[in-house]
Amino acid sequence: MTNTLLIAPSMLSCDFARIGEELARAEAAGADWHHVDVMDGHFVPNLTIGPPVVAAVHKVARVPLDVHLMITEPLRYAGEFAKAGAHVLTFHIETCTNEAAARKVIAGFREAGVKSVGVSLNPDTELTRILPILDSVDLVLVMSVFPGFGGQKFTPSVLSKTRGLREHGFTGRVEMDGGINAETIARCAEAGCDTFVMGSALYGAPDMRSELARCRELASKAAPRALPAR
Ligand code: DX5
Ligand code: ZN
Repeated sequence: MTNTLLIAPSMLSCDFARIGEELARAEAAGADWHHVDVMDGHFVPNLTIGPPVVAAVHKVARVPLDVHLMITEPLRYAGEFAKAGAHVLTFHIETCTNEAAARKVIAGFREAGVKSVGVSLNPDTELTRILPILDSVDLVLVMSVFPGFGGQKFTPSVLSKTRGLREHGFTGRVEMDGGINAETIARCAEAGCDTFVMGSALYGAPDMRSELARCRELASKAAPRALPAR
């Protein structure tokens, strides 16, 4: 079975003075999820939003919230983000010293009621760091830029990780984040990604709807016909 392709506009690139309208604009354009970037100024050199904003967004959003935690202590805040309405909650493997620590985070997320647990890895983190825990996550978020800011350039070398995940038989969602646009999306789909975060390329497009449709088409044409069966 092949996972459906999902496009998740990243609200980091929206007009923060008009978040509700911007999310509605993304939904009208065909967004499958809203990608929500949470940064703590420690794990990454930027600060963004926390649980109260996620809760407010959840009240108006009509598609699931894909919450990407770029924070040093993901377990500490799992309950708050789950309560705020995170559908997907993703932590970074770099915040865990070993496999046991990562398993503790995953268990904590599940106990908090998170429906879909994701693990993310930075461009310079080896795939081997997450292989032991693949059996217990629903999604892997492969970073194609160093996290912290939107509008950066895609790093093609991370595509080997996506291929590696599929070669290891991972059938969950593989999501790519950073520099995804009409130039880069096909290569990601070809390598086995089924979920695409797009910030500046969509929120900055003159016509978000047609740009999203164009990218979805490019991805679906490039996607391998048969991903490993679930
Ligand atoms: C970067 C964030 C991304 C960002 C992507 O740290 O994790 O989700 O919003 O933005 P673009 O698509 O502009 O690279
Ligand atoms: Zn992100």
